[in-house]
Amino acid sequence: DLVREKLITTVARPAKKTKRKVTVVGCGQVGMAAVMAILSQNVSNEVCIIDANEKLVNGESKDMQHGSVFLRDATIVGNTDYKASEDSAVCVVTAGARQKPGQTRLDLLKTNLKILDQIIPQLVKYSPDMILVMVSNPCDILTHGAWVISGLPKERVIATGTHLDTARFRYFIGQRLGVAPSSVQGYIIGEHGDSSVAVWSSVNVGGIRFADLLKCVGSEGDTDQWGELHKKVVKAAYEVIAGKGYTNWAIGLTTASVVSTILDNKKEVVTVSTSAKDRQGIENDIFLSLPVVLGANGVVSYINLQLSESEQQNLCKSAEAIDKAIKSICG
Ligand code: NAD
Ligand code: LAC
Repeated sequence: DLVREKLITTVARPAKKTKRKVTVVGCGQVGMAAVMAILSQNVSNEVCIIDANEKLVNGESKDMQHGSVFLRDATIVGNTDYKASEDSAVCVVTAGARQKPGQTRLDLLKTNLKILDQIIPQLVKYSPDMILVMVSNPCDILTHGAWVISGLPKERVIATGTHLDTARFRYFIGQRLGVAPSSVQGYIIGEHGDSSVAVWSSVNVGGIRFADLLKCVGSEGDTDQWGELHKKVVKAAYEVIAGKGYTNWAIGLTTASVVSTILDNKKEVVTVSTSAKDRQGIENDIFLSLPVVLGANGVVSYINLQLSESEQQNLCKSAEAIDKAIKSICG
């Protein structure tokens, strides 16, 4: 099968499994939005919430437990002790500092790297078979750090990455065309942050590629100025943070989508942050988002993208930006 051979690089065998317990570390705005989406969308009905703040985790877990009759009689526990997370299929990390207005995600690196040592070994101790999903920012670099600390195979450690940016991108394009976001096919790859890359060469609706209708779509010379929509994606979190101080609903839903893809072994193509060295012309030893096939074993395959020259250059620049941030901290 020539198309399959060129399109897909298989790295692990897809698994059959039934365990559905999900642990969410960090019960702040993002953690609780993720818990709410996971429970209310029936992604799992067994959730453990962990936070270093005992009063907060008790309050949040009790409040959620009181609604369990409306959540398929869900089992919800909250604790500061990671023993409660034992035997989770998926662990999601949302703990840590968030951006203040004007701060970039990369500005959080030093602060949030420090807490990985407190969190990751505990998760691995109690759920050695888990898939680890990082959400805390800067998620690409923290995922790399979490993978190193965890000792888990690479395919089992990911971040939600640009699955969120991709959702925003599809929403903005859908809005402009009057089409449902789910009917817009397109990807944002690279850093979940300011250097992300829109893959305009493959954006399509109903199988019709925009690039076949307007050659320079999304780049310089695009008279329709579709590139503005990628700028909107990059600005999106800053605008929400300027308004309400944090983002949570879209990332909560994004997290539930990733967890559901794993628990149901869906083998969906999603842009999540994964080890990118030696993929798509990237030489740096970094994690960033690329379209992968995700299932119960984590990243099962990579989709080998056919990028345009400028997209390839921008992806390498995004990899450089991540590499530079890592070197600024780790030397
Ligand atoms: P928040 O301040 O509301 O919550 C953070 C929680 O982490 C707090 O409850 C705090 O007690 C807990 N915490 C801190 N250190 C801990 C530790 N060592 N162990 C256990 N718990 C600890 O923040 P938030 O708005 O929920 O944001 C959380 C993180 O998610 C931030 O880093 C933010 O930038 C990131 N985020 C990522 C995305 C994404 O797309 N990847 C989207 C939105 C937010
Ligand atoms: C987001 C966060 C801030 O909502 O990374 O994109």
